Amino acid sequence: MNNLLKDNAALVEKFRSIRTPFYYYDTELLDKTLQAIKKETDQHEGYHLHYAVKACTNSKVLSHIMKAGFGADCVSGGEIQACLNAGFPASEIVFAGVGKSDWEIVLGLKVGIQYFNVESIPELEVINEIAAGMQKVARVSFRINPNVGADTHANITTGLAENKFGIAMEDMEKVITLANEMKNVEFVGLHFHIGSQILEMDNFIALSNRINELQDQLEQNGIRNVKNINVGGGLGISYQDPDGQPIPDFKAYFDTYAKYLKLRPGQHLHFELGRAVVAQCGSLITKCLYVKKAATKQFAIVDAGMTDLIRPALYDAFHKIDNLTSNAAEETYDVVGPICESSDVFVKDYSMNATKRGDLLALRSAGAYGEIMASQYNCRSLPIGYTTEDI
Ligand code: LLP
Repeated sequence: MNNLLKDNAALVEKFRSIRTPFYYYDTELLDKTLQAIKKETDQHEGYHLHYAVKACTNSKVLSHIMKAGFGADCVSGGEIQACLNAGFPASEIVFAGVGKSDWEIVLGLKVGIQYFNVESIPELEVINEIAAGMQKVARVSFRINPNVGADTHANITTGLAENKFGIAMEDMEKVITLANEMKNVEFVGLHFHIGSQILEMDNFIALSNRINELQDQLEQNGIRNVKNINVGGGLGISYQDPDGQPIPDFKAYFDTYAKYLKLRPGQHLHFELGRAVVAQCGSLITKCLYVKKAATKQFAIVDAGMTDLIRPALYDAFHKIDNLTSNAAEETYDVVGPICESSDVFVKDYSMNATKRGDLLALRSAGAYGEIMASQYNCRSLPIGYTTEDI
């Protein structure tokens, strides 16, 4: 099987002259991924993708996604600004989050975003009040907590009653009625999101079934003005096999909703995929500083750390590591970073080509929740992100 990075000798040669660690985004793969999504959404009437910007806000990556014609799902004023800078029309931006600050609501109203995904009654009241002060009408969609689990890491499930997200199902009619009575908000839809890195379609079937029940219930109570259903994101990727599965199975994902979710006539279905769009196109490129042999282990100490890619430390996440500059017989390593924390470990007991000082390593599938979650702990510089066009 071809290794998308390692087999590209010319690219690896170029990497040698760039200061490590850095992120590399393969924009050819990104474009192919975007086309694969488009091919599927175009087949279904009323399907729209708002890219979940939180996964990666690198401006060049955003620009590719904007040019492919997708909208954006933002969770902060900063993300809204990043999207506007990248050229996304405000009318294609939706804005979620449990704790929107007043200035973020003002920004959303000022630029005219498509709608707010509202997560509580107090938030609805504040949006109505701010919109009244600005003589505007805010379009609002309610994030309902569907109490549907997801087969994923506990830290990234969001749709259970115990999670902080969304409005309880029991309160759904109450908030819609309330919004319909308010002068400065317009109710435009329902929003859901059950979690992230989900590979079992059963989870999306369970969400579809729950939405069907809720829609029936609303209709029985005479509420028929639900223009949009937004099912959030969550489709996972193969961290084990980025070369074998560089593009996620979008067909299975969209077909699942087409089969199980009963949209009402004229209703639009919105998706907020993040990881599945950008994860596989990004790699964190790092240099081996030292190989340290201890009694029972050998450590490959690299110049990237948990400050550059926190997912292994935070979620026990696995990222495949390729030594881009060695084909020597494999040996076993703990690959660790330079940060003064025991959790600064990328992987333990990992087989890879024999590694020496100066070798370039790629931590794969790092395009989502990689660069954007970087920190400056230990007074480190933030990693720079380069795309195929830059190199
Ligand atoms: N919509 C909402 C409301 C969300 O909360 C999220 C992600 C998404 C969409 C996009 O989900 P995706 O398609 O990327 O699964 N930092 C974690 C992931 C946190 C996801 C938070 N919400 C990680 O590195 O795995």
